[in-house]
Parts: sequence; structure tokens; C-alpha cells
Amino acid sequence: MRFDVLTLFPGLFSGYLEQSLLKKAIDAGLVDVRLWNFRDWATDRHKSVDDTPYGGGPGMLLRCEPIYDCVSAVQAEGEAPGQLIMLTPQGRRFDQTLVEELSQQQRLVLMCGRYEGFDDRISQGLRPLEVSMGDFICNGGEVPAMLMIDALIRLIPGVLGDEASARHDSFSCSGRLEYPQYTRPRVYEGMEVPEVLLSGNHQAIAAWREEQSLMRTKERRQDLLNNTVEPTS
Ligand SMILES: C[S@@+](CC[C@H](N)C(=O)[O-])C[C@H]1O[C@@H](n2cnc3c(N)ncnc32)[C@H](O)[C@@H]1O
Repeated sequence: MRFDVLTLFPGLFSGYLEQSLLKKAIDAGLVDVRLWNFRDWATDRHKSVDDTPYGGGPGMLLRCEPIYDCVSAVQAEGEAPGQLIMLTPQGRRFDQTLVEELSQQQRLVLMCGRYEGFDDRISQGLRPLEVSMGDFICNGGEVPAMLMIDALIRLIPGVLGDEASARHDSFSCSGRLEYPQYTRPRVYEGMEVPEVLLSGNHQAIAAWREEQSLMRTKERRQDLLNNTVEPTS
């Protein structure tokens, strides 16, 4: 899967791209992340990409010209233009359903805003899919873009050591929260691992996990139970 990230701060991605699962996936050729700086499409000698809002008000807005030019050059580069995405707090809420939908795409082009955001004619004309990480405001679209990449690469076959782990995660498959999990030691500060998990009885363990997942979801996220589907395995 290819990600093209359009940003004013490509340097923010360096640590993220060079470690852990994402680095392994890039080295294995499963994921390709390319960084582009909007400023490279600015035409004036100050390389400016922003301007003050009409009507007044605080802050600066990203201007149409460099953003349109950048998007069009990046989308023309490669076999297919890919799905254009604008990171914005005003977009569709990013959740596991959207992660699964987007994981079907071969290429995503992610536009990261800064300052007060984008001139509205950028979404009017380019018609990106507008995606929000939640009802809060970040300083820029870079961390939201990393979040998208992080969630999406988990669904690319070969990226996780064990494909089953993504199926059992919260929100996946059953749509519920995952059951509680434990590792050694068997007793820690008086807290014991539930007996059934030590029994070796796979049927009993599966039934316990199913029950715990349901209980936990009822207690913490009743809203998820309205969308629940039965797990496949
Ligand atoms: C300070 S925000 C601008 C917020 C904008 N003035 C508004 O109220 O809708 C700057 C940029 O950060 C990114 N951003 C901030 N919060 C976000 C969120 N919850 N989800 C996705 N992107 C976000 C967007 O790319 C946005 O253009």
C-alpha cells in the first residue's frame, strides 16, 4: 500500500518511519510512504503557502494555488491517482469501519493542514474524503496522518507477525472490546490470572473470552453493542 503525505513538516515523520512495525513493512516492500512538501509548489521568492482569511479573524489559511499544484503533481506521479484524503476535524470520524474500507485502496494521498486549516475551495474543488481523528483540535494534520497509517498497516497481509491478532482486537470482527489478557507471572501482588486460562481447555477459554468481551463492552461502550456482528473465528 502506498501513502503520499503532503505536509509543511515532512521532518516530523522521520522517527516514525524509521522504527518498529512500519520500518519492517517498508523494508519488506509491503508499505511505501512518500513525503511531499507543499512549499515546493510555492511560486514566490518567500515560498509562502498561506495568507490571512478574508473577513478578518485570527491565524492564516493554506492557499489554493500551491495546494492544488502539489496535489495534481503528486497524483500524476504513479500508476493511479489514489484516494485523496484531507485531515480535518470537520471530516468523517476515523474508526475501524473506515480503516477497513480504506484498507481496500492501493494508494492514499493524505493532505495535512496547518495554521487555521485550508481555504474552503480546496475541498470544494478537489473533493477529498475528509477525515477527522475525533472532536478535538491538533496543531496539524501530521499526527492524524501517522495515526491513519498506523491503523491501516495492521490490516496489510504480512505486516503483523500473527494475522489473528488484528482479528481479535477491539472493534474488529465482533465490533466489541477485546477480552482481558494476562502474561507471566501467574500471581502479581495478590492479583491472580483467571483459573480458566491455565486449564488448557480451549473451548472453555473461548467461551470465557466471549463472555468477558461482551461484559466489558456493556460496561464501557454500550454504544458498540448496537453494531455488533458475530465473530467468524
Ligand atoms: C489547528 S487545525 C485547524 C482547525 C480549523 N480551524 C477548524 O476549526 O476546523 C490545523 C490542521 O490540523 C489538522 N487537524 C486538527 N485537528 C484534527 C482532527 N481532529 N482530525 C484530523 N485533522 C486534524 C487539520 O489538518 C487542520 O487543517
